[in-house]
Amino acid sequence: MRYIILGSMTILLLGLTVTQAAEDERQLVKLPDPMRDHMLGSMRDHLATINEIQAELSKGEYDKAADTAEQRLGMSSLTAHNASHMAPFMPKAMQEIGTEMHHAASRFSRTAQEVAVDGNLAKALESLSQVTQQCVACHAAYRVH
Ligand code: HEC
Repeated sequence: MRYIILGSMTILLLGLTVTQAAEDERQLVKLPDPMRDHMLGSMRDHLATINEIQAELSKGEYDKAADTAEQRLGMSSLTAHNASHMAPFMPKAMQEIGTEMHHAASRFSRTAQEVAVDGNLAKALESLSQVTQQCVACHAAYRVH
């Protein structure tokens, strides 16, 4: 019994070490505190937006999903996110992922409008996954604390 407990603890500790090592590989981007808080606030809104878009798609509200995406994640949302103010603090590759996310969201918005006509939900979902792919890419590479 004791060996089983010790064995489990070892596996747990190994697991923690591996997780820690993976986190350390992300590049730390130093932002002034208010800017970091603002950015994390935008991030929480990004997640809420993806959630809202998925709920709208599930109800067949494609035009609504198109609007939500364009206004809150697409090119139309850049001023709201203070993007031009933040960009100089970010590495170029990070800025590019951010820009690509906004483009992908605007592309999704147009696709969702098409889907309102042709009803091809799979096409909308594929396009939405190109948006979330940018969330994943940036989170895998960077951290702010
Ligand atoms: C250009 C880079 C970038 C993109 C694109 C991006 N994020 Fe983030 N996000 C970050 C960074 C950096 C953090 C902070 C991570 C850390 O320090 O551990 C973060 C944190 C978050 C958090 C945590 C917020 C908090 O209060 O701590 C959420 C939620 C989040 N992002 C959601 C999203 C979603 C959803 C998307 C896509 C729609 C997205 N992000 C796109 C860089 C990005």
